[in-house]
Parts: sequence; structure tokens; C-alpha cells
Amino acid sequence: MKISVLGTGYVGLSTGVCLAEIGHFVTCIDINQHKIGQLCQGKSPIYEPFLENLLLKNADEGRLKFTSSYLNGLEGTDIIILAVGTPQSEDGSADLSYIMKCAKDIAPHLTDGVTVVIKSTVPVGTNELVEKIIMSHCNNDITINMASNPEFLRQGSAINDTLHPDRIIIGANSKKVADKIEEMYLPLKAPIIKTSIRSAELIKYASNAFLATKISYINQIANLCEMVGADVNDIALGMGTDKRIGLSFLQAGIGYGGSCFPKDVKALHLTAEKHGIQFSLLKETMRINDEQQELLVKKAKKRFGSLKSKKIALFGLSFKPNTDDMREAPSIKIVRLLSNEGANVVAYDPVATHNAREVLGNMISYANSPEEAILDADAVFIVTDWDEFKHLNITNILKKMRCPIIFDGRNCLDESMLHLLEIGEYYPVGRPSVIFSNQKSD
Ligand SMILES: NC(=O)c1ccc[n+]([C@@H]2O[C@H](COP(=O)([O-])OP(=O)(O)OC[C@H]3O[C@@H](n4cnc5c(N)ncnc54)[C@H](O)[C@@H]3O)[C@@H](O)[C@H]2O)c1
Repeated sequence: MKISVLGTGYVGLSTGVCLAEIGHFVTCIDINQHKIGQLCQGKSPIYEPFLENLLLKNADEGRLKFTSSYLNGLEGTDIIILAVGTPQSEDGSADLSYIMKCAKDIAPHLTDGVTVVIKSTVPVGTNELVEKIIMSHCNNDITINMASNPEFLRQGSAINDTLHPDRIIIGANSKKVADKIEEMYLPLKAPIIKTSIRSAELIKYASNAFLATKISYINQIANLCEMVGADVNDIALGMGTDKRIGLSFLQAGIGYGGSCFPKDVKALHLTAEKHGIQFSLLKETMRINDEQQELLVKKAKKRFGSLKSKKIALFGLSFKPNTDDMREAPSIKIVRLLSNEGANVVAYDPVATHNAREVLGNMISYANSPEEAILDADAVFIVTDWDEFKHLNITNILKKMRCPIIFDGRNCLDESMLHLLEIGEYYPVGRPSVIFSNQKSD
């Protein structure tokens, strides 16, 4: 099939590359000419494992092209996939301006019978809105087919998730349209769930809000564990091995971030409110998450009394491991809180430093390695659970610090390493702290 993908962000680019990999002829279109320039040279503008290799392979084999011209990119296409951003508006609702502009701009280039698929996360009713915009801006007397095909990939494992999805949701108002999209995905051999357009739109929000709620739930259990002397890892294992609950999204920590959960929970809450439903469960999910992001700073204040002039080494800046994405990363709030307390922050992240500089500027210093970040540090905050941090020799790290204290916001260190602790203090989330009795004094 000939497919055009609009938007070469995390979703659009991963989708385009994977559709080419399964044999389609794909053109990815983006209005950002700098990105298109990089992509045409075989360079991925984002960090995502395996993405660049597949991009180069499929471009070389002639199945993947990049352009910023709608005229060239939409010519003769069977399916157009909209994967542009739908960020949060000031009032918390989904900002549909990119998707609406996209609809208006592609309209004059559409041919009769083309299928327009919305992959971006959009509130219920958006497909109908986009169809109206297209119909009022297209030149000829054409018919188009609309469909909703929400995306569930996770940044950091986007390629694997796209090639091996748990399920594919196809929302369409006719069997013919749904079958066409199913045909596009056939080589993936993934379970397909066909629904109405409105249900498909809502499935995405319902899924993300549920996962975010699961995170806030385990985080509150973690806070309770700290009060009663229980271990949240044991609780999560005990709960999660019940098939009805499942082990995923039961890792306690300093809360969720990223470009999806925060905005999608807010948008769903607002949608419910608009329709007279008080979805107060989601309000609590958000409140708990906001508080949880403050946890390490609160613990450090309790431990030190004041954080003024303390040197804090942040391990990790991106919102999760294996991505350079800083959108809504908990590190942003932590840095702001530490700055307000008068602390000096030095951060190390394996790949997100470049993007972090754009958000945090010179509020903090940036180190090239964990060892550089901890020189003379009073405490380490582990903010992102990169594998690199899980495999550090923690006693060596502690020995090099002015004050050997670690606040682990992601419970990165396992039991066996903790037993090896020869100096210092280790404060995880929802688990007993480990304090070596002969530590240096601060
Ligand atoms: N990032 C994720 O993990 C993820 C997962 C599932 C769903 N989603 C949803 O997918 C959508 C895209 O998310 P993302 O993270 O890939 O966004 P992104 O911000 O990384 O990328 C969006 C891209 O769209 C481009 N764009 C904007 N207007 C355009 C236009 N008129 N024509 C062509 N290109 C245009 C931008 O230049 C940008 O490159 C959002 O609705 C998001 O909620 C994201």
C-alpha cells in the first residue's frame, strides 16, 4: 500500500518506519523542515532504540521517503495517517490546533475515496470535526473515509511496541474502511479490535488514565509502607502475581511524567466534566502524582534540615529511561524545588542533556558521567531508572561523595546490592532505608 504519515515525532516516525519495514511504501511529511532535512540524511531527530537502523534500511530499500511538501507526499496515497501533536491547552483540554491545521492543509490535495486515519490522541468527536474541516476545504466533489486508530507505543520501546502490539484498535463507521486498515496491519499478525470511531477515540484515554491511576495507587501504597515498615516491592509482587491485577505499572517511585499520561488524564477528566460526570478518581490520580514528584526533596529536607548550598547530583533527566524526551519529566519539578531551596544541582543523563538544556537552561550544571556528577556531592537523587544506574558500583559512588547519601526515586538498587553497602545512607521509595552505622558525618 502507499501510505502518507503526517508528523515525524515519536509516534509518526515510529509508525512510518515500521509500516515501511512490513512492506508498505511510506512517505513521512512534517512541516518542520529541519527535521525533514535530518531524516533525508538518514538521521533520527529523536533517540529511540533501533529507530535509526530501520530508518536507514527502509530508506535504502526505497520504501521510506521524507518531505515537507503535501503535494509530493500525498500524491497517489491510499491511506493518510495523522500523527501530529495534541498537547495540553492552558485549561487542560487537548489542543487540537495542529490536527485542525493539518486537516485544512491536506484537504486540497486529497483524491476521491482516500482514507484519513487519526492516530493522534484526540477527544471523542474529533474525527467528525476533522472530516467537516476537510470537506469544507477540499477542491473537488470527493468522498473521504475517516477512521480512528489510536497508538499505544511506549517511548523507549517504540519500535518493538509498533511491530509487536498487544492489540490494534480500529474505529470506523463502515466495515469496508475497517477492513482496509486491517489489511495495512495484516503482516503484524496482531489481534485487531474493531469499534465505532467514538469508542476507539475513548479507548486511548481510558487506557492511559487507568495506567496513570495504577501508578498513583501503588505510590500511595508505597507511602503507607514507609509509615508501617512494609516493603512496596513485596506488596507489588504479591498483588501483581494475581492475574486480575498484573505486575506492570506497579513500580513505586516519584510519579509519572511524559508527553501522554499527564495531559491525557487531565483531558479525560475535563471531557467527563463537560458531560456532567464528576470523575474525582482522576483528580486524585493527578493530586497524588503532583505530590509524589516532591518526595525526594521532602525526604532530603527532612534529612539535612536545610538544602541551602547543598550539592545534589541528579541521576537522570528524561521522563523515563531509553528516551531523550523531557516533556513533563519529574526532573523539571525536582530541579525547580531544589533551586527554590538554594541547592546546587549537577545532573547526568545518558541521552537527554541536550533537550534538558532547552528546558532547564543554566538552572543546573550538566556532567558527562555519574562519577563527574557526584564529585563533592552531598546527596544523589536517582530520578530516571536508566539501566546504567542499576549497574553502578554503589559503594564506590558513595565513597567519592562529600556526604554518602542516596535518595532513590525509582528503587533502582536491588536487595543484593544493598547488603553490600559499606558506607552511607540509602533512601528508596516505599522500602526500608539502609543506613550504614559508621558513615561519614555531613
Ligand atoms: N509520544 C508517545 O509516547 C505517544 C504514544 C501514544 C500516542 N501519542 C499521541 O500521538 C500524537 C503525537 O505524539 P508525538 O509524541 O509523536 O508528538 P511530537 O510532538 O513528538 O511530534 C509531532 C510532530 O508533528 C509535526 N507537525 C505538526 N503539525 C504538522 C502538520 N500540519 N503537518 C505535518 N506535521 C506536523 C511536528 O513538527 C512534530 O514533528 C499525540 O496526539 C500523542 O498524544 C503519543
